[in-house]
Amino acid sequence: MNRALCRKCFIDNILERVESEIKKYNLIKPNECVLLAISGGKDSFTLLDVMAKIHNPNKLIALTLIEGIEGYNRADVLEFMKSKTRELGIDHIVLTLKEAVGATVDEFVKNMMLRNIRIPPCTYCGIARRRAINKVAREQNADKVATAHVLDDEAQTYVMNILRGDITRLVQVHPRGPWLSKLFVRKVKPLRKIYERETALYAYFHGYKFQERECPYIIHIPTLRARIRDYLYRLELEKPGSLLNLVESLDEALNEYVKKYYELPELPRCKICGEPTSYNREICKFCELLMSVGLIK
Ligand code: FES
Ligand code: ZN
Repeated sequence: MNRALCRKCFIDNILERVESEIKKYNLIKPNECVLLAISGGKDSFTLLDVMAKIHNPNKLIALTLIEGIEGYNRADVLEFMKSKTRELGIDHIVLTLKEAVGATVDEFVKNMMLRNIRIPPCTYCGIARRRAINKVAREQNADKVATAHVLDDEAQTYVMNILRGDITRLVQVHPRGPWLSKLFVRKVKPLRKIYERETALYAYFHGYKFQERECPYIIHIPTLRARIRDYLYRLELEKPGSLLNLVESLDEALNEYVKKYYELPELPRCKICGEPTSYNREICKFCELLMSVGLIK
C-alpha cells in the first residue's frame, strides 16, 4: 500500500492488480468484446489505457457520451481522448445524449423549468447515461460494459447501501452480483481495487493533464454519498488501507450470499419503451422522467 515505487513499477503494479481482479471474479474472458464507457476524466482515461494493455484492442470499443450541458462538455478533453483511442487502435463512438436516447440534459432541464417542476438534473443525467451505454453496448454486440468506478466509489456505494438497508442494491455492487435482465449487457468494474489517487497518478504519467471541471448542475448540499466520502477519506488518512479492507471484507462476506439473488425472476419490461423496469413498475423511471417534463406523451 504505502510503498514507494518508481514510475515503471507503479504502472506494472496497477496492471497486475487490475488483471488479478479480472481473473479472481472472471470479469472478462479473453475473447470477449468490451465496451468501455469513458467520460474523459482521469479514471476513464486510466481504464482505457489499462484495458488496451491487458486485453485485445480489437475487442475493445470506447464510448463517450456528451450530456449536452452548456459550458461543461469540453472539446479539448474529447480531442485528447480521441487521439488516445486512435493511438491505441480502439474504435471510439462519440454520441450526444440526444442522439442516443432522445434528449440532452439541458433540454430536460429547460422543459422541466417550463413546467415549474423540480427534479435534480443528475437524476436524468444518470438514468439517461446508463440507458445510452446499455443501448450502444447491445447494438455493438458487446459482451461486457466496463465502467471506470474506482475503489473509493465502491467503498462509498457499499456503505451507502448498508446505511439505507438496501440489500438488493448492496449485492449488486459485488462483482458476482445478480444479472436481472437479458436486455442488460453485464457491467464490470476493472478498476474497483484501485484508489482514485492512483488513477490520478497513472493518468498523469501517461500525459493526462486536465483538471476536473465541475458540472454546473452539481448540487452543493451534503448528500449522503458526499458525507460518506468525506468520512471515509478521513479514515483512510488516519489508517491507510481502510477502504481496501472495507471493500475486500464485504466482497468476501457477500460472495456466497449473492447467489440467493440469482433466483430472482427476469425484470419486467416497460409498457412504453420495452426496456427493463423495476419489479413494482409498469413504466420505467426513464420514461416516467421524460413524461413528467413533456418530452414524451
Ligand atoms: Fe448532475 Fe451534472 S447533471 S452533476
Ligand atoms: Zn420505458
